[in-house]
Amino acid sequence: MLTELCFENLAGIETELLVVLAADTQTSKEPGVLPEPVLLTADAAVKAAAAAVLETGEYKAGANETLLIHAPGGLRARRLLIIGLGKQAKVTVHGVRNAAGTAVRFTKPRGIRGLVLALPESELLPPGPCTRAAVEGAFVGDFDPDTYRSDRKDLSIQSFTLAAPAGSDKAALEAAFAEGVIVGESQNFTRALVNEPGNKLTPTILGQRAAEMAAEVGLQAEIYSTEKLHELKMGAFWSVSQGSEEPPALIVLRYEPEGERGDLDGPVLGLVGKGITFDTGGISIKPADKMELMKYDMAGGGAMLGAMRAIALLKPSVRVIGIVCAAENMPDGKAYKPGDVETAMSGTTIEIINTDAEGRLVLADGLSYARQLGATHLIDAATLTGACVVALGTTNGGAFSNDDATYEKFNAALETSGEKFWRLPLGEEYAEMIKSDIGDIKNTGGRYAGAITAAEFLKVFAEDTPWIHLDIAGLAWIEDSKPYIAKGPSGAAVRSILEWVRTYTN
Ligand code: BES
Ligand code: MN
Ligand code: ZN
Repeated sequence: MLTELCFENLAGIETELLVVLAADTQTSKEPGVLPEPVLLTADAAVKAAAAAVLETGEYKAGANETLLIHAPGGLRARRLLIIGLGKQAKVTVHGVRNAAGTAVRFTKPRGIRGLVLALPESELLPPGPCTRAAVEGAFVGDFDPDTYRSDRKDLSIQSFTLAAPAGSDKAALEAAFAEGVIVGESQNFTRALVNEPGNKLTPTILGQRAAEMAAEVGLQAEIYSTEKLHELKMGAFWSVSQGSEEPPALIVLRYEPEGERGDLDGPVLGLVGKGITFDTGGISIKPADKMELMKYDMAGGGAMLGAMRAIALLKPSVRVIGIVCAAENMPDGKAYKPGDVETAMSGTTIEIINTDAEGRLVLADGLSYARQLGATHLIDAATLTGACVVALGTTNGGAFSNDDATYEKFNAALETSGEKFWRLPLGEEYAEMIKSDIGDIKNTGGRYAGAITAAEFLKVFAEDTPWIHLDIAGLAWIEDSKPYIAKGPSGAAVRSILEWVRTYTN
């Protein structure tokens, strides 16, 4: 996709599709009162072209609501598309991100290959953040999951242009635009990985893909397998992988900033992702219904790789280590079993109750290893529990932390990323639920509070290091297409992890 930022007058732009955003200024809630949509542009020619249809009250400018005008009078564009952001007092930068995605997805069934989006003008929408968000949204909207269809039509748009008002701060918008390209492409990098089926993306292949990406963007990469797991005494990680013909992959990526923050006493951020390339449940096998979706059980690891890609290109002044623990969870003669006791890298002994609670096992050793490599702050992401989806649905991801100050930084990052996470509690009573009779802890805590007891398990391995855990089971796969994003892999958490990392820069 060719992307461009321009500062031309909207009326003079020659394009197949000019997109302008709108909001509803109607504040009355009386029944029968018509909406009062306004275009978020100062361009008189565009306003004139849309005036007649906006006066009818047929169009509410609701979020992602579209209105198409062919051959708009007074404009050089062939079509004018209006996309709503909802009530004017409540417009957000994230709404602009979605509207840009809607614009791109609008073109696909119509065979339109290029569009120009007018940067919205509103006191509530700062131009820099909107520029970045619009570009991200365009990339997000451009992704389709039909990789392996023989009759796949390449419907992706050829050019996306953002038109900013002539008086804009060009340098600032150009920087924001470039950032949006990096973040949007990185999120789609993650989505492409998560979309891959288990046979096409084994732990070994995931390791190769990570190494290729690292070479492209200038990250150091080390990809290890079985031997290294044994050497590091990663009994928890290994136990999950031992039932598969596919060897595990321990993926380690390192980002070192240039200049003064390369010093040795600054923070080192450890990003740890669950990379189960397929989760059958193992001996505690899952039901067949929807099991095919368990190819997305590496979405946490995929998010870490996407975030590392963006970090390498955006070059924040903080050191970052990315670790993905990749394995396939299979039932087999050599598979681990309920009742087995495993010794984790930290020395903690774990009683296996359910082999389907495998994510926490691979992450346990990943967290220990990140600490051993010098991480001073940890964040993990995982499609960890169905219980998290029961609790929060597909709207909010679950977030947990052992340190309020660290969590506050993450919460601040959500403002920029536009993603939703809801912090859930930890506590001694929950920790009690995973005490084992034969060893230190067990890998499930019973039916109640399943997302929390899983987090309590991970907390044992974070030890005294400030740590955040993100359960993205409900976010990483979208069941039904939305106007601004296709169904399938979402790339959830990439943007939030990246922004959290950037809160550590000086
Ligand atoms: N990968 C699953 C969690 C999951 C479920 C992700 C649905 C996405 C959608 C995880 O490994 C798992 O199986 N968890 C079990 C834990 C239980 C055995 C304690 C679960 O949630 O049922
Ligand atoms: Mn499982
Ligand atoms: Zn799993």
